[in-house]
Amino acid sequence: MNDQQHNQQTYEAFALQYHQKRSHEESNLWNLYLDRPMMEKLIGSTTSGTRVLDLGCGSGLLSRWLKDRGLEPRGVDFSQGMISIAAEENPDIEFTVADIGATSYADASFELVVSGLVMHYVQDLGPVFAEVSRLLSTDGIFVFTIHHPVDEVTEVRWNGSGYQAEMKPYFHNRQYQWTMLKGMELLSYHHTFEEIAESLYRQGFVIERIMESRADDALRERYERFHARMNSYPSFCGFRARKVS
Ligand SMILES: C[S@@+](CC[C@H](N)C(=O)[O-])C[C@H]1O[C@@H](n2cnc3c(N)ncnc32)[C@H](O)[C@@H]1O
Repeated sequence: MNDQQHNQQTYEAFALQYHQKRSHEESNLWNLYLDRPMMEKLIGSTTSGTRVLDLGCGSGLLSRWLKDRGLEPRGVDFSQGMISIAAEENPDIEFTVADIGATSYADASFELVVSGLVMHYVQDLGPVFAEVSRLLSTDGIFVFTIHHPVDEVTEVRWNGSGYQAEMKPYFHNRQYQWTMLKGMELLSYHHTFEEIAESLYRQGFVIERIMESRADDALRERYERFHARMNSYPSFCGFRARKVS
């Protein structure tokens, strides 16, 4: 079994648990307070009716938000279980089972492609970014969030009174394993900032904005340790890029 098949089977097996985790604030802090605010800022203001593809849409939560803002989203994910939940909860949105590197949509079908926390599952970003470029019309926008390159090589531990970090080698594209939920082991790949930027550049994109997630100060009292961790060491980052050629 290759890494993609491992991740596909894992997401398949944990689709419902993943969706339930995302439905409760306490188990959803990272998505709710780090990834989503960054994603919303990177997408920025949009025109009603914009055709948007949600790559690696999971159970459809971001697609729902896009639809509620007046956009026309479609979602793809390689987990049938995720797509079934997404379709059941959002009958007004089209969801399809597909790999993010090989969708069946025609060239230039979308003005916007979004992808929340999926790209770290891909070792070679080139073919996926090429597919995104194919799907976008000229001047189209690609917004994605990804594990922060520094977080991927840093071990952060709570020592009883604060967080301590140990950084490991940075310049490589190696696989790492991590646990999302008990028993839910996923395989991801480390990408440096330069590699991400060069991969975009080679597919005709220019980067308009880069963000690094932080926890809002309003969360300091309610989630003290989470706030401290997220404002001391990086966790996710996000890119907004425009297709120019
Ligand atoms: C962390 S979840 C994020 C879900 C969604 N983007 C969100 O933000 O709510 C990652 C999703 O990416 C999907 N995924 C990972 N690799 C993929 C691939 N190569 N092709 C299609 N889907 C993929 C998984 O099945 C999973 O649903």
